[in-house]
Amino acid sequence: FGADRTLFFIFGATGDLARRKLFPAIYSLFREGKLSERFAVIGLARRPRTNEQFRDDVKHSIEEFARYKSEKDHNWEQFAEHFHYMSLDINKLEQFQQLKTVAEQLDAKFDIGGNRLFYLALAPELFGSVSYNLRDGGLLETEGWRRLVIEKPFGYDLPSAEKLNEQIRQVFQEEEVYRIDHYLGKEMVQNIEVVRFANAFFEPLWNNKYIANIQITLSETVGVEERGGYYDHAGALRDMGQNHMLQMITMMAMEPPSRMEPEDIRDEKVKVLRSLRVFHSPEEVARHVVRGQYDTGEMKGKPVPGYRDEEGVPDDSATETYFAAKVFVDNFRWAGVPFYIRTGKRLPVKTTEVVVEFKNMPDNVYFSRKTKLEPNLLVFRVNPTEGIYLKMNAKQPGSQWGIVPIAMDFCQSCEVGINTPEAYERLLYDAARGDSTYFTRWDEVALAWRFVDRIESAWRDHSSELHRYPAGTWGPDAAQQLLAEDGFKWWPVN
Ligand code: BG6
Repeated sequence: FGADRTLFFIFGATGDLARRKLFPAIYSLFREGKLSERFAVIGLARRPRTNEQFRDDVKHSIEEFARYKSEKDHNWEQFAEHFHYMSLDINKLEQFQQLKTVAEQLDAKFDIGGNRLFYLALAPELFGSVSYNLRDGGLLETEGWRRLVIEKPFGYDLPSAEKLNEQIRQVFQEEEVYRIDHYLGKEMVQNIEVVRFANAFFEPLWNNKYIANIQITLSETVGVEERGGYYDHAGALRDMGQNHMLQMITMMAMEPPSRMEPEDIRDEKVKVLRSLRVFHSPEEVARHVVRGQYDTGEMKGKPVPGYRDEEGVPDDSATETYFAAKVFVDNFRWAGVPFYIRTGKRLPVKTTEVVVEFKNMPDNVYFSRKTKLEPNLLVFRVNPTEGIYLKMNAKQPGSQWGIVPIAMDFCQSCEVGINTPEAYERLLYDAARGDSTYFTRWDEVALAWRFVDRIESAWRDHSSELHRYPAGTWGPDAAQQLLAEDGFKWWPVN
């Protein structure tokens, strides 16, 4: 079913996220008929802007970033008239009262029925005061539903996340809060559960009897760009580990939910997070987690600066731009199976892949052939290529004894005509339909912080080794060691 009638309030409407992701997403939904005519968007930011200027901004953003372009054959005017702008100082309650009037007018004009979606594309420090002003300005007194969509980072550690959550919860119910983790909006991350639960030849093998290890790589070629100020306080573990990587672990490890309903799925994911082995001592952290920071190096033959030379980064920064970890899900299904995860900036390729390495078959039957059997692999290619890859063993054609690995490679994003929706498109659509499956619930966030905080505090208090790696390489050797000591290796990524 399509999205409900919705009045979108985009806070931070002149910012990067709105321009790159949100406006293009709304446009694609409109073009695909997923958004009814009964919607409106109020862009909110401090900067003064007329409706016309704002609609021009939206148009440019769509031309630059959308899957569909605003071509002449489409009725642009009809779309643009749903967009309105209001300059707003989020600390001024009286301006929220004015916003209420504007909202009521648009609601009546487009027959929206009082449904309100507040998207805060803002720094998290502002979530609390915006929520209070929404309430005190009377914006929540409506006949329809109201939902709050917020971006990461959700806190800096567990205590700060709790504080943030308390502020929000003074105004919104948990069911009304949609916390974005854009990795959950990615097609292939959503596909993990289908591949697992809809295929007879995976789910029966999905446990410690048949799976040797699981590897998740999320590599980026970019450095910190102009985000040095934010990033240096966060680091790779908070920026990518606490959210995207732990979320992918939950998708891989969760039990089949009794029904494919948001709360049932999220309940199962929470159980995984609860089973994560928390590292208690600095020694445990040092044994299981490697951290690195990029130094000067080369990307595609061109020299690039080291992290400490980036804008907004102190010369002696000890922030990690890379981490690799060996994680355990201590439950019945996964006992003894390592989940190896790694992510970093300035690595050789941009890719996200999840690899399932199956245990070796007894190879005594083939022993006399002096062939070493390669393990079976199942790979989810998440980004930028979307697909599924299976590696299995077969007879080498024409040979008498040879066994070779063969590949079955399904490339979804290569198929002509498939133009898969962007993550933000899917998530905005879900939020407007009231489907919270692919948003993170508070207990997930809290448990993820519990896991991360232990590592952060060991790093802080015991200054464990920070490995410098040249930009353009696969990160510190210690990350290879993490697997080698278990008799494994990182599988090369696509
Ligand atoms: C964001 C991080 O959440 O994800 C960024 O803050 C990172 O540092 C980005 O670059 C990666 O997302 P994607 O979709 O490009 O892989």
